[in-house]
Amino acid sequence: MHDHSRHVRKDVDPIIDLDEVWKIYKMGDVEVAALRGMSLEIYPREFVAIMGPSGSGKSTTMNMVGCLDVPTKGKIYLDGIDISSLHESDLAQIRGRKIGFVFQQFNLMPQLTAVENVMLPMIFQDAPTTEREKRAAELLKEVGLGHRLDHRPTELSGGEQQRVAIARALANNPPVVLADEPTGNLDSKSSYEIMGMLKDLNKDGKTIIVVTHEPDIAKYAERTIHIRDGQVVDAKEAFAAAPHKDKTEKTQHESEPKNTKTKEQDKRGNKK
Ligand SMILES: Nc1ncnc2c1ncn2[C@@H]1O[C@H](COP(=O)(O)OP(=O)(O)O)[C@@H](O)[C@H]1O
Ligand SMILES: [Mg+2]
Repeated sequence: MHDHSRHVRKDVDPIIDLDEVWKIYKMGDVEVAALRGMSLEIYPREFVAIMGPSGSGKSTTMNMVGCLDVPTKGKIYLDGIDISSLHESDLAQIRGRKIGFVFQQFNLMPQLTAVENVMLPMIFQDAPTTEREKRAAELLKEVGLGHRLDHRPTELSGGEQQRVAIARALANNPPVVLADEPTGNLDSKSSYEIMGMLKDLNKDGKTIIVVTHEPDIAKYAERTIHIRDGQVVDAKEAFAAAPHKDKTEKTQHESEPKNTKTKEQDKRGNKK
């Protein structure tokens, strides 16, 4: 069933290849199968959107692809490397070189300035601090924040914080950028700006994967992968699902208090 929307190409090797991946979380006696034999291929320089209801396994998929966690069963290849059974130190190494992350909650360090946040992933680079600082400033200029270099996250708007996060994602010039609901905490105008930036990065040759609930955000991608219950489904199956259930999930998502975590982070940031 999950084979319907597999996008197998013969001319080029995938940069990301999930082969029958299972992820089972154990919580005490309870097991949750977040991924149930998920298979998908993503090719170099693709811009892919991943859509699916809450709890369908989108973030789990991103965490696997991003080397933040390993599958319970199945294989994951990142740029030809089998990452499915690596230990944390090897995963961290590969993650640092191959992947840039952008999150819904921005995940910036509140006590650090924009430049310092962008410099963080560069700690493994062999360059002197002044050099790293220069590169961080350049990346911030590229995302239009040349005038905000020494601002802390609490002194920046949501859209600006997400732009800092994009600059940070690019710190080690990774081939792949993963964005898990990057516009989930942004107004429409900032959302379109952020998506425009990801589109430009894609034009510059990066492979981009964006998780989103919003069709107008998914439109920026050239291909959409629909997932449901931890598997890839084809678009027809995704939309033919019980409309009542879909509605409930959407309403739940929309009624989630927006910016809650950001406010908490702000409070913490302000205390310091
Ligand atoms: N760390 C975890 N421990 C236990 N269950 C988890 C964990 N992370 C996710 N899950 C469960 O796995 C399923 C998929 O979650 P997730 O990948 O976050 O979905 P999505 O991002 O599509 O909303 C959900 O049922 C969720 O509750
Ligand atoms: Mg998620």
